[in-house]
Amino acid sequence: MDLFCSVPESSSHLRKMLYLMQTNKNKMEKKNQSNGIKRREFLRTGAAFAASALFLPLSGTTVFGALNANQTKKSIPAVTLNNGITMPRLGFGTNTLNDSTCVRCVAEAISVGYRLIDTANIYGNEESVGAGIKQSGIKREELFVTSKLWVDDAGYESTKKAYQTSLNKLGLEYLDLYLIHRPRGDFKGSWKAMEELYEAGKIRAIGVSNFEPEQLADLMAYAKIKPVINQIETHVFFQEHISYEALKKNEVQMEAWSPFAAGRNEIFSNPTLAAIGKKHNKSIAQVCLRWHYQRGVVAIPRSSQKAHMIENLVIFDFELDESDMHTIATLDLNTTQFPEWG
Ligand SMILES: NC(=O)c1ccc[n+]([C@@H]2O[C@H](COP(=O)([O-])OP(=O)(O)OC[C@H]3O[C@@H](n4cnc5c(N)ncnc54)[C@H](OP(=O)(O)O)[C@@H]3O)[C@@H](O)[C@H]2O)c1
Repeated sequence: MDLFCSVPESSSHLRKMLYLMQTNKNKMEKKNQSNGIKRREFLRTGAAFAASALFLPLSGTTVFGALNANQTKKSIPAVTLNNGITMPRLGFGTNTLNDSTCVRCVAEAISVGYRLIDTANIYGNEESVGAGIKQSGIKREELFVTSKLWVDDAGYESTKKAYQTSLNKLGLEYLDLYLIHRPRGDFKGSWKAMEELYEAGKIRAIGVSNFEPEQLADLMAYAKIKPVINQIETHVFFQEHISYEALKKNEVQMEAWSPFAAGRNEIFSNPTLAAIGKKHNKSIAQVCLRWHYQRGVVAIPRSSQKAHMIENLVIFDFELDESDMHTIATLDLNTTQFPEWG
């Protein structure tokens, strides 16, 4: 069984049982770690070891040692959400990936170790994401799949229909996480519909995206079920301290969209990030993702290149120190890099 127990729950009792099973399993897995990784895992990660050895900067430990301990597919660390289910702390974004490119990227991302795949109805690529999942040959329960309800479908009835449409396009029977993409229109009606889908065991977790702290507070005052996540724009140039603190206080997981600011503001040649990367023998992308990870934020970087996909996974074998974190804090411009989406 995988780290991510993904059976759609049909009642809160079953959910509790699954949670307890998961907790026990996690304890057992911790015990088993000292016995080394299973042969099947070892074989499946072999390709990633070889590929990464070709181009990845090393950080003191050998590639084999570092990846053996930290980069197996099942060792992307998980976070337990406020409803008790676990989610990988690093995933793969698919915005702007379409058609055959999207199919290839999703299949490649899964083959190198990603287990969390993020899509949305508005990306127009749910069919391709579904085809990539199918092509990967992975068992459904090993994945954590997110999609989002677009603003045109806000409201109780339309949300139920839109959810089923997303499932049909993806070719899946359930989603691990369904988010309200933006707080527009009758999103409270949407939330009620999502609560019902969740209670009926058709979604494993429900959450929101692009909610300001006041909008989240408003929804939470109305909601029967608390959102597990708020997926928002956050990266080194937009650190979102107010949302960060509010989400922490409310036990709502913060998830970073555009964790590289989609390359804007010349992030990949930023001299401050480059200097920190040099110190740790890591790339700017790895420094950014490690920063998200150390803040406790789930990041979902997108890449169309397999080499980048692998590079972005190798962030669990180094640590940014206090002075690095302090220096990165000074990069905050406290404003969006996507004013056109306002
Ligand atoms: N909820 C929302 O409203 C919302 C909004 C936007 C995005 N999202 C989600 O968040 C995901 C990520 O955000 P994003 O797609 O906007 O952008 P992003 O992940 O911040 O950046 C993607 C860019 O970074 C480059 N890149 C990736 N890895 C790299 C590496 N190791 N070295 C150098 N360049 C690298 C990619 O180029 P290559 O392809 O060449 O690697 C691509 O140009 C989306 O795909 C989507 O799933 C959600």
